[in-house]
Amino acid sequence: MQLIKVEDKLAGSLEGLKIIETAIKNGEVKTLGLATGSTPETLYAEFIKSDVDTSGITTVNLDEYVGLAADDPNSYHYYMNDLLFSKKQFKESFLPDGLAEDAEAECARYEDILKAHPVDIQILGIGTNGHIGFNEPGTAFDSLTHKVVLTESTREANKIYFEKEEDVPTHAYSMGIKSIMNAKEIILFAFGKSKAEAIKATVNGPVDVACPASALQNHPNVTIIVDNEAASLL
Ligand code: F6R
Repeated sequence: MQLIKVEDKLAGSLEGLKIIETAIKNGEVKTLGLATGSTPETLYAEFIKSDVDTSGITTVNLDEYVGLAADDPNSYHYYMNDLLFSKKQFKESFLPDGLAEDAEAECARYEDILKAHPVDIQILGIGTNGHIGFNEPGTAFDSLTHKVVLTESTREANKIYFEKEEDVPTHAYSMGIKSIMNAKEIILFAFGKSKAEAIKATVNGPVDVACPASALQNHPNVTIIVDNEAASLL
């Protein structure tokens, strides 16, 4: 694991973007793995200002809420369209379908997409409980794309985006930990004090399902970009 410590979210996002841009310019990126949430917002804002050509790049996202349509403002489809896809051209973009009728078939379809488009660089944020994607503590390290029951802490953290608490979905589709680990390179971003415990467990803790991100210790090419607060317990 390579650790890059930066002053703040903007500096971290620019560091990450530099890695992504260089890899794209070197022709090393056919497929880019993307995340949602507050963490990559600045990265995407800087990405759309960059002149790097992404028109030949496929994107795959980590996850999507079950029950939300692509045009629902709280869906991850909507987030991605709003922050990135409407402003920068990609070849094609995939996310799980929140409205899929058959969950098992949807997960299999998504794994087929990942097989056809192996991820060259995967961007990750991290939950305060160490989750990556929506892989909550206890998720098996050999998990593939699956339907997840969201924990109360994750629903609590995400409720700021919803009008009413009961609107926060209870389930999501998420790439599994194995699906994430299949990426050739991973860049995990963590900003703010609330991520300090999770970063400590990810970097220094045992590799254990109690902290899903600790699986990254076994990946050959991971960069963790943290601001001073997220790094404060290292
Ligand atoms: C989002 C995702 C999640 C978030 C994590 C952190 O696609 O997979 O794992 O990265 O919940 O969320 P924020 O960035 O909002 O703190």
